[in-house]
Amino acid sequence: MLKTRITDLFGIEHPVIQGGMQWVGYAELVSAVSNAGALGILTALTQPTPEDLAKEIDRTRGMTDKPFGVNLTVLPTINPPPYEEYAQAIVGSGVKIVETAGRSPEPFMELFKEYDVKVIHKCTSVRHALKAQSVGVSAITIDGFECAGHPGEDDIPSLVLLPQAAEALDVPVAGCGGFSDAKSMVAALALGGEAIVMGTRFMATKEAGIHQNVKEKMTEADELSTNLMFRTMHNTARVFKNSVSDQVVEIESTGSATFEDVKDLVAGQRGRKVFEEGDLEHGIWSAGISVARVKDVPSCKDMVSRLIADAEEIIDGRLQSVKA
Ligand SMILES: Cc1cc2nc3c(=O)[nH]c(=O)nc-3n(C[C@H](O)[C@H](O)[C@H](O)COP(=O)(O)O)c2cc1C
Repeated sequence: MLKTRITDLFGIEHPVIQGGMQWVGYAELVSAVSNAGALGILTALTQPTPEDLAKEIDRTRGMTDKPFGVNLTVLPTINPPPYEEYAQAIVGSGVKIVETAGRSPEPFMELFKEYDVKVIHKCTSVRHALKAQSVGVSAITIDGFECAGHPGEDDIPSLVLLPQAAEALDVPVAGCGGFSDAKSMVAALALGGEAIVMGTRFMATKEAGIHQNVKEKMTEADELSTNLMFRTMHNTARVFKNSVSDQVVEIESTGSATFEDVKDLVAGQRGRKVFEEGDLEHGIWSAGISVARVKDVPSCKDMVSRLIADAEEIIDGRLQSVKA
């Protein structure tokens, strides 16, 4: 057993969290993760409406009686979704754990406090983590440069960012970005992390509701298999390297590209189709550098059991053996 402040806080067996994933975080995956003793997280905006989110929460409850959470990602968009209504659907459904991301959770804290919801805020810098702590979140996920999705603009990898955050904060901190196996998990614990959050690794599991082609492609990837796009627009995203993301990077390299120039290539619905239909070159899809460490497509239960057993072996075996 690996026990930390985060296992205590969320009432979970293992210090392992599945980060919210757009078009991936459905009830099947989330319940499988929670049933494996980790913390599964639904993605609010994967559901077309707040009512659909409430139904997805019900569906998840039908498949697990273990704790699970909902991710609420608030990003600047031209036509913003009704975030407030999604937040109401979360509290109205009795969910007690929320992962916030994208911007400060401050506008939602009063509502979440009223309903005794524990907020774990995901951010990419110590300064944003301190701000979130000051508005009352229960825990922080600190997202290093290796991560899938939005690593921010500071480019600080988990090896430095996690201990910086853990030392600066009073609330428990989960390491995120680059974690995929027992070796990286033990490193996170050594760095002051109280859990790991994984996205990429959980994509390549049996229960993730994405096309088998995507999962198999991930097992063939290496450490050079991601692209950073939107760098020039200061909205960096780490995505899988394919012909579409290569094209975006190339257009950006001209130095004068605007969002309009890449808008069609990066359309979210194209990426969604990759996951649904398995045409890997149809659009942009997120993956972190840890995709290099994905070698198989196990069930969540097998993956999490192996992770914990191997982590314990490293702690009791290798780490003891190097001690003179
Ligand atoms: C396919 C995919 C979709 C993601 N979508 C979201 C999202 O909607 N909101 C969010 O906060 N994070 C999102 N993430 C990021 C993950 O929650 C997590 O922070 C990240 O994957 C951690 O890095 P790792 O991939 O190295 O494990 C996504 C990640 C992946 C792989």
